[in-house]
Parts: sequence; structure tokens; C-alpha cells
Amino acid sequence: MAVDTRTPPPKATAEPAKKALDKKAPAKRSPRGLSSSVSLKILMAVSGLLLVGFLYMHMLGNLKIFFGADSFNHYAHWLRTVGVPLLPEDWFLWIQRAALTAAVIGHITAATVLARRARRARPVRYVHRPKVQGSYAARTMRWGGVIILLFVIYHILDLTTGTLNPVADPEHPYRNVVADFAPGRWYVTLFYALAVVSVGFHLRHGLFSAARTLGQRTLRGERIARATALVLSVALVAGYLSVPFAVLTGLVD
Ligand code: HEM
Repeated sequence: MAVDTRTPPPKATAEPAKKALDKKAPAKRSPRGLSSSVSLKILMAVSGLLLVGFLYMHMLGNLKIFFGADSFNHYAHWLRTVGVPLLPEDWFLWIQRAALTAAVIGHITAATVLARRARRARPVRYVHRPKVQGSYAARTMRWGGVIILLFVIYHILDLTTGTLNPVADPEHPYRNVVADFAPGRWYVTLFYALAVVSVGFHLRHGLFSAARTLGQRTLRGERIARATALVLSVALVAGYLSVPFAVLTGLVD
């Protein structure tokens, strides 16, 4: 079959010519141009920061398990009474849930639109592009994000609603956590570990990218941003992993 390889003639575009003539007309940016991409990056950074804030608070709260059952159960109960008596019981928890859900939706939407735009801006892939840096990070972020999302759904069904927890006692979150990571349920611990490590990778890349978005350009700054992102992510991962491994090794029972 014959294929027409001739370049199609440029479309008649009266609009740009008209603009060039009318020097007084202010230069308009397309709604999909620079400014809206910047807004999306800001949305990513703000929603990401909110999620990161929650992640550190949650990790620090989980460490209460090392102070014993009473301490951990008291902390879990306190989560439901934050804001009382200014707010009725559970209200703060629901406000936090709404904010986290909005942040997750905003984060995923902005990431998807930005990734699509980047792909559309370069319709022909680089032939010699090695599988490093950009493409590697993008893949890690995408798959990491999917694992984290699946994990959060499982985690809520496990420790918030108790649907998938072997003990599921709402009055004793400590017992629920210990039952979760019992040696016989090694596959649960493995899934937790995979998800937490994914959170670590996601955070490391996210923090590093955020520093760039905020204008970090120098070589020294880049080194500092890379090291800071690494230290913060390793601290988060270690804090989270300490709980299942303490149960596995019998330190917490
Ligand atoms: C091994 C580490 C973890 C442990 C031991 C743990 C423990 C818990 C517990 C006990 C609850 C229930 C609190 C309650 O309702 O009384 C909970 C809820 C939750 N956790 Fe975790 N968690 C861990 C890791 C994570 C990670 C990595 C994430 C996020 C990526 C996460 C996100 C959440 C969320 C969103 C909730 C629901 C809070 C709510 O009820 O609104 N957790 N976690």
C-alpha cells in the first residue's frame, strides 16, 4: 500500500498573524501553558507536603508501641478525641480523613496531567536514551504510587475497620497490630515492608524534585537536597519498619 510521506501544508492560522499585527494585544498564554503547569506543580508540592506531614506524625505515633500496650492504646484512643471539647468526638479525625483524601486525589491528578503533558511535548522518543534518571524515576514514582495506594486501602481494612485483621478489637489496637505481624503471617509483614520501602523511594524523589521546583539549581544545592531527601526517607522507613520487625523478633508481643 502506498503511503503518502509528503509533509502536509501548514494549516491556515489567521489568529497568530492577526496578533502580530495588533501590537497592543497582550500576549496570552494558553491554559495548558507554563502557568497552569506551575499551578499543577504547586498542587503536587502542597498535597505532597500534607501527606508527608501525616506520614511523619503517624510514624512517630506508631513508635508508642515500644512504650507498652497501655501507652499505644491510649494514643490510638486520643486520635479520636483530638479537638474535644471544641469539636465533637471524631470530628478532627474526619476532617483529617477528608483533607488526606483531597490531597491524594489532587496529588494523583496533578501527577497524571503533568506526565501526559511531558509525553505530548516530546511525541518522538529519544532513540539513544539510556534507561537512567528521568525514565527510571518516573517509573519508580508511578509504580511506587500504585503500591502505596493499594497498601493504604488494605491498611484501612486491616487496622481501621478491622475487616481483614485476625483480632479486630477496636478497644485494643495494640493487639491488632501484634496479631498482624505474627511470624505465621510473614506475607503481611512482607507486603507492609514493600509498601513502606515504596513510600521511602517516593518520598526521596518527591523531596528532591520539590527542591528543584522551588528553584534549587546549583551543584552544591543539589548535593545537599539529595542527601537531605535520603536521610529523611531512611528515617521514615526505619521508623515504620521497626514496628513489624519488633513484633517478628518478639521485642513487642
Ligand atoms: C508498619 C507500619 C504501620 C503501622 C504499625 C500502622 C498502624 C496503624 C494503626 C494502628 C492505624 C489505626 C488507627 C486507629 O484508627 O485507631 C492506622 C491507620 C492508618 N494508617 Fe497506618 N500504620 C503503618 C504504616 C502506615 C503507612 C506507611 C501509611 C501510609 C502510606 C499509613 C496510613 C494510615 C492511614 C491513612 C490510616 C487511617 C487513619 C484513619 O483512620 O483515618 N500507615 N495505622
